[in-house]
Amino acid sequence: MTSYVGAIDQGTTSSRFIIFDRQGRIASVAQKEHRQIYPRPGWVEHDPVEIMNNTNEMIGAALARANLAAEDLAAVGITNQRETTVLWDRETGRPLHNALVWQDTRVDQLVTTFAADGGQDRFRQVTGLPLASYFAGLKLRWLLDNVDGARAKAEAGQALFGTIDSWVIWNLTGGPNGGIHVTDVTNASRTQLMNLETCDWDRGMLDVFAIPAACLPKIVPSSFVYGEIATPTLKGTKIAGILGDQQAALVGQTCFSPGEAKNTYGTGSFLLMNTGVKPVQSKAGLLTTLAYQFGEERPCYALEGAIAITGALVQWLRDNLKLFDIATQIEPLARSVEDNGGIYIVPAFSGLYAPYWKENARGVIAGLTRYVTRAHFARAALESTAYQVRDVVEAMESDSGIRLTSLKTDGGMVANELLMQFQADILNVPVVRPKVVETTALGAAYAAGLAVGYWSNTDDLRANWEIDKTWTPSMPEDRRAHYTKSWKKAVQRSFDWVD
Ligand code: G3P
Repeated sequence: MTSYVGAIDQGTTSSRFIIFDRQGRIASVAQKEHRQIYPRPGWVEHDPVEIMNNTNEMIGAALARANLAAEDLAAVGITNQRETTVLWDRETGRPLHNALVWQDTRVDQLVTTFAADGGQDRFRQVTGLPLASYFAGLKLRWLLDNVDGARAKAEAGQALFGTIDSWVIWNLTGGPNGGIHVTDVTNASRTQLMNLETCDWDRGMLDVFAIPAACLPKIVPSSFVYGEIATPTLKGTKIAGILGDQQAALVGQTCFSPGEAKNTYGTGSFLLMNTGVKPVQSKAGLLTTLAYQFGEERPCYALEGAIAITGALVQWLRDNLKLFDIATQIEPLARSVEDNGGIYIVPAFSGLYAPYWKENARGVIAGLTRYVTRAHFARAALESTAYQVRDVVEAMESDSGIRLTSLKTDGGMVANELLMQFQADILNVPVVRPKVVETTALGAAYAAGLAVGYWSNTDDLRANWEIDKTWTPSMPEDRRAHYTKSWKKAVQRSFDWVD
């Protein structure tokens, strides 16, 4: 049997190809960043062609690095930044516009208009999501309304819509020459156009948002042989897994039982808890989303706490305030002081996501005095990540009725030990980091490998999961209560800044 499985990880900042062995260990990896395009405040775009070129280049680079070829891979899976929206021409293969990135807030006005008639939660029952600029459906609506000829082409099936998974797969499997146009249940659940119960496009949502069905991809399971890759480096390899990146991390962390949860610390942070085969509606400001669907099995659902800005705050301190030169310097700087010096940073740069969903919030720094130094800023920035995660854990416990006994973590920021300890302290539960922290790509590899029998079942996958390090809480209760209360006050100050 072939020895490896490949995973394309197309994220917000970079595209990677990672090759895994049967134990879930990395055999090779290649990564390339792409441009972040900011045409106006609040607008964020990517060039889909650049993303596709980088993806192909990284596939070639990772294979070459390990001296491997297409025939060494049993299958390839894909995981992707979610909600980012592409509309392209079926005949030419050219995008009609840059991709609108998940953080882009240009549909604010559409959100307000729809919410005026029935409230922000009017589509929650059907889609699991509140009205927000975050999701793909309204981004597609903006493209149809603002790009010349887009609506007519979409109605005629000449323009195709997709989140990044659809765009990449269509290109990999032939593009204008027979590329397959699919998306999996997890990505589809982020459009606000899919019905949570049927896992199909919802006629009512398409009508309300004025989206023509002819441009939509077919919704498929997350683990399934969709077709074969047609590009030279991977010709004939089966493409067999698709998962949105946060759901992929849930799978990579082997959270297959109801109540199991993980938190990924990246640009933003995303806490997902598996809730089993029934969708649980949130009353506390979380999202109800698809966790995964393996082949013909019943789909599994998750509750999600999505936080827009965590690691991005560290980048902002580095790039905009020039507080340090490289991101890892934040930890020694933060360690050089005992505490936050009384300041709290609420990074509501694109409003606040879960559990608040405040489009009109903007960032605040509360508690400033002359005592405060840049080291306190560093500390408060890291702590703000932990507080935001605490807010979504609180919502998760209230919605699910399950008390978190430990938190599985992954993503770039888990290298920051000060943050991990503070997270354990502020949650008052142990925080656990696994040996393989590339859980996003691993989850996509698992989905693809399960579809082709490379791994036989989820028990095989669980056997691969190993602890690297655990942080146990050591903060006195009165200090935790004081910090949490101050944080909540600061959050309130960020609300309703934009009229
Ligand atoms: O919902 C947005 C999320 O999928 C982005 O993740 O890791 O690419 O920033 P990431």
